[in-house]
Amino acid sequence: MEYAGCTCTQAVTAIFLFLLSLPLSASDDRLAVGKTLSPGATLVSDGGAFAMGFFSPSNSSGLYLGIWYNNVPKLTVVWVADQLAPITDHPSSSKLAMADDSSNLVLSDAAGRVLWRTNVTAGGVNSSGVVAVLVNSGNLVLRLPDDTALWQTFEHPSDVFMAGMKLGIDYRSHSGMRIVSWKGAGDPSPGSFSFGVDPERPLQAKIWNGSRVHWRSSMWTGYMVDSNYQKGGSSAIYTAVVYTDDEIYASFTLSAGAPPMHYLMSYSGDLHLQSWSNVSSAWVTNARFPRRDCSLFGYCGSFGYCGNSTGGGVSTCHCLEGFEPASGADWSRGDFSLGCRRKEAARCGDGFAEFPDMKLPDGYALVGNMNAGECAAACRRNCSCVAYAYADLSSSTRRDPTRCLMWGGELLDMEKVNESWGDLGETLYLRMAGAEMIVKYDGKNNKKRALRVLSVSDEFGKEIPAQDLDFPFVEYNEIAAATDNFSEASMIEKGGFGKVYKGVIGGRKVAIKRLSRCSEQGVVEFRNEVLLIAKLQHRNLVRLVGCSIEGDEKLLIYEFMTNKSLDASLFNSERKSTLNWSTRFKIIKGVARGLLYLHQDSRLTVIHRDLKASNILLDTEMNPKISDFGMARIFEDNQQNGITRRVVGTSDVYSFGVLLLEIVSGSRISSTDFIEDFPNLSIYAWNLWNEGKAKNMIDPSIVASCLLDEVMLCIHVGLLCVQENLNDRPLMSYVMLILENGSNSLPAPNRPAYFAQRDIEMEQPRDDTQNSNNTVTLTVMEGR
Ligand SMILES: *[C@@H]1O[C@H](CO)[C@@H](O)[C@H](O)[C@H]1NC(C)=O
Ligand SMILES: *[C@@H]1O[C@H](CO)[C@@H](O)[C@H](O)[C@H]1NC(C)=O
Ligand SMILES: *[C@@H]1O[C@H](CO)[C@@H](O)[C@H](O)[C@H]1NC(C)=O
Ligand SMILES: *[C@@H]1O[C@H](CO)[C@@H](O)[C@H](O)[C@H]1NC(C)=O
Ligand SMILES: *[C@@H]1O[C@H](CO)[C@@H](O)[C@H](O)[C@H]1NC(C)=O
Ligand SMILES: *[C@@H]1O[C@H](CO)[C@@H](O)[C@H](O)[C@H]1NC(C)=O
Ligand SMILES: *[C@@H]1O[C@H](CO)[C@@H](O)[C@H](O)[C@H]1NC(C)=O
Ligand SMILES: *[C@@H]1O[C@H](CO)[C@@H](O)[C@H](O)[C@H]1NC(C)=O
Ligand SMILES: *[C@@H]1O[C@H](CO)[C@@H](O)[C@H](O)[C@H]1NC(C)=O
Ligand SMILES: *[C@@H]1O[C@H](CO)[C@@H](O)[C@H](O)[C@H]1NC(C)=O
Ligand SMILES: *[C@@H]1O[C@H](CO)[C@@H](O)[C@H](O)[C@H]1NC(C)=O
Ligand SMILES: *[C@@H]1O[C@H](CO)[C@@H](O)[C@H](O)[C@H]1NC(C)=O
Repeated sequence: MEYAGCTCTQAVTAIFLFLLSLPLSASDDRLAVGKTLSPGATLVSDGGAFAMGFFSPSNSSGLYLGIWYNNVPKLTVVWVADQLAPITDHPSSSKLAMADDSSNLVLSDAAGRVLWRTNVTAGGVNSSGVVAVLVNSGNLVLRLPDDTALWQTFEHPSDVFMAGMKLGIDYRSHSGMRIVSWKGAGDPSPGSFSFGVDPERPLQAKIWNGSRVHWRSSMWTGYMVDSNYQKGGSSAIYTAVVYTDDEIYASFTLSAGAPPMHYLMSYSGDLHLQSWSNVSSAWVTNARFPRRDCSLFGYCGSFGYCGNSTGGGVSTCHCLEGFEPASGADWSRGDFSLGCRRKEAARCGDGFAEFPDMKLPDGYALVGNMNAGECAAACRRNCSCVAYAYADLSSSTRRDPTRCLMWGGELLDMEKVNESWGDLGETLYLRMAGAEMIVKYDGKNNKKRALRVLSVSDEFGKEIPAQDLDFPFVEYNEIAAATDNFSEASMIEKGGFGKVYKGVIGGRKVAIKRLSRCSEQGVVEFRNEVLLIAKLQHRNLVRLVGCSIEGDEKLLIYEFMTNKSLDASLFNSERKSTLNWSTRFKIIKGVARGLLYLHQDSRLTVIHRDLKASNILLDTEMNPKISDFGMARIFEDNQQNGITRRVVGTSDVYSFGVLLLEIVSGSRISSTDFIEDFPNLSIYAWNLWNEGKAKNMIDPSIVASCLLDEVMLCIHVGLLCVQENLNDRPLMSYVMLILENGSNSLPAPNRPAYFAQRDIEMEQPRDDTQNSNNTVTLTVMEGR
């Protein structure tokens, strides 16, 4: 562990404050036109955390203008203005003032020479009333009376990355920001080390020594906020990465009551995360990058990686499995620069071996719009693709949230990562000679068998060749162990096609669906589900995390859903009250989003055909996830540029309507609780609607607390979805729009279908530009 308590005696320390005998002016946090800041005086932020003024490092005879922590007893400078031009002559006569055009701060010396200035071009803006304010975050902001910032130190940093700064790349202005080290102890002029986001491959950050890469971070995996607790303390640093189509940047904040903390790019080339310790009255390094000697960029050569500690606690270079040192003699002497070579050459038809917990290599190509399966298939097809890795960046706000990375040639700068250091490792898939490798890494013969079963060609086999699947195949024995040999105690559900068990596999809580042995339908189902769900990824679809085939045993492994299926709560008289209206409405909208994704937002057009409360699973936060794709069908949509033809999935829309009525009423569609005259819930609902008494159908356990407008909207939409005439039923895009935005101009519902139907034959593509009144609304949706 390198979260040691080492005291950092870096650039910021050995400095003393230059105090002259001038009378101190009353501290203020701002500098307006007509006022000047001279040596001896300071600006202090409102809140007292930071001060700005003149200082002189002990090894230097020059005087600098800077910002430092005001509440830390050891002078710690976080920003320097005149790094290149210290004040040397008659320091007491130098001053910082607003320039005559009143839009720039200017530092000048006794002779009137300009040592430093902000470079704001007023550009037609009336800059009268501009002030320079030292904000309590340590940011000096030059701003207009209306608070528009013309310039700020957070956009022109020195060697410190502070809470509230954004370190990243802006594609619109083609600008990137880096922090730059000092030249040496007590020498604030710019040194050779800098740290920032890699402009060529912005999913990673780098430390540069001049123009050479010194160290490279792990790849961003899509987390939005990462928290890092200070050792032994109760304070945390929360790092966020914001990734949009326009920019990518990292930023961090500190938990309330945290001591001062920042990242410092030191002149010796290490990036330190430091926090101030009251106890030792010193800056303590909480983390240091590079973490270990062999983490230096490219240290282990191509196909080598910086690995764990062996015996003496020294991390060193290793060759990836299947590789050997290119020069054994150099390697054993500790010169790893020549790297490793393959023991056996790989050919294009070879499979991929899996290397978990890796810091991925440098030099990736980001290939857009590919899910995990497509990413694997694309690399497999491309003979120059040596390796790939996939992550889902759904926390970003990019139009394309996929992250398919591919590598060609030699792989450089890898590390085996230990998560207990707070590093993020990922699985690298590397092309390897011989099918044995796949078998070895993916669960012995299981995958081979599975591939054979899955390759049976049918309408799915044609679309998705089984070998394209990048999928964890789990050993039967491992699953048996995880479920106590499928004991009654681990069983959580019994359904039509088999039983569902809970268990822990690879440290992860999972639900295991064991398809019944003899059912021939089971095989088709299984193939269907594996192939389909491997291609689909959405937060409202349950995630398949693995599968297994052994003999006639077929097992599907899903992420575990804490709150079980919707029907287990909704139709249970004791538990239904835990589902208040806001939770029910959230479930409704989530299911609608999942269906919309299946129907038109995924790259396939998928009709689920078996949507019902028992197939809606709920996670810890009661987010719904659609499950059970055994009955689902894919429809090919060959239209390249457009929206003209679309499969409507009216059977899903019907089922969704039923679900809405069930959720609102807390009763099953088939419930016999209603007055004898009504064969089912939807007919009952329609009759109440026509009599203006739809309120009567609301579940008594929510009626007091629900929002009537929302409930009535749901009943209305539900009735539109269950209409007898397929062409009257709305598209999911329309449903989604109404649920999100409401509407007071919905058509009156027509008569509902009598029987819950799964009209497969009627499932025809519909030309919605001609037949639907929803077209206009749909266009609005598409135009966003
Ligand atoms: C990870 O680091 C921790 C603490 O240094 C250590 O105990 C553990 O064994 C390491 N794990 C691996 C897989 O090296
Ligand atoms: C202002 O612009 C000049 C000339 O372009 C440049 O030399 C100087 O470094 C800039 N100053 C700052 C503070 O950006
Ligand atoms: C700029 O705005 C101030 C008021 O904020 C006004 O008095 C002044 O005339 C304006 N100057 C110009 C050039 O428009
Ligand atoms: C002053 O500079 C020398 C050499 O440049 C360095 O060794 C020493 O540590 C510095 N002293 C302080 C107090 O910064
Ligand atoms: C930084 O680069 C310089 C010049 O190439 C080199 O002399 C120095 O050793 C490098 N520093 C580190 C820490 O790698
Ligand atoms: C550190 O010092 C500050 C005042 O300087 C005080 O408010 C705070 O409680 C101290 N924290 C600890 C952990 O001693
Ligand atoms: C450390 O690395 C060696 C060689 O790569 C490996 O055999 C061993 O299992 C590793 N140990 C841990 C705890 O990861
Ligand atoms: C194949 O992969 C290599 C290496 O990633 C890449 O440079 C090349 O563009 C890819 N070719 C195609 C056709 O995708
Ligand atoms: C499961 O069954 C196997 C063989 O039938 C047996 O060896 C094993 O001990 C059993 N495991 C458990 C946890 O019961
Ligand atoms: C509904 O229930 C959820 C969780 O069960 C709760 O967080 C929320 O505050 C409740 N809403 C209302 C309006 O009671
Ligand atoms: C959902 O699961 C969480 C975590 O297990 C639990 O605290 C909560 O009560 C559950 N909510 C319902 C409505 O069952
Ligand atoms: C569209 O709506 C109008 C009026 O509401 C109706 O007369 C017409 O039949 C509808 N057209 C279709 C294709 O549903």
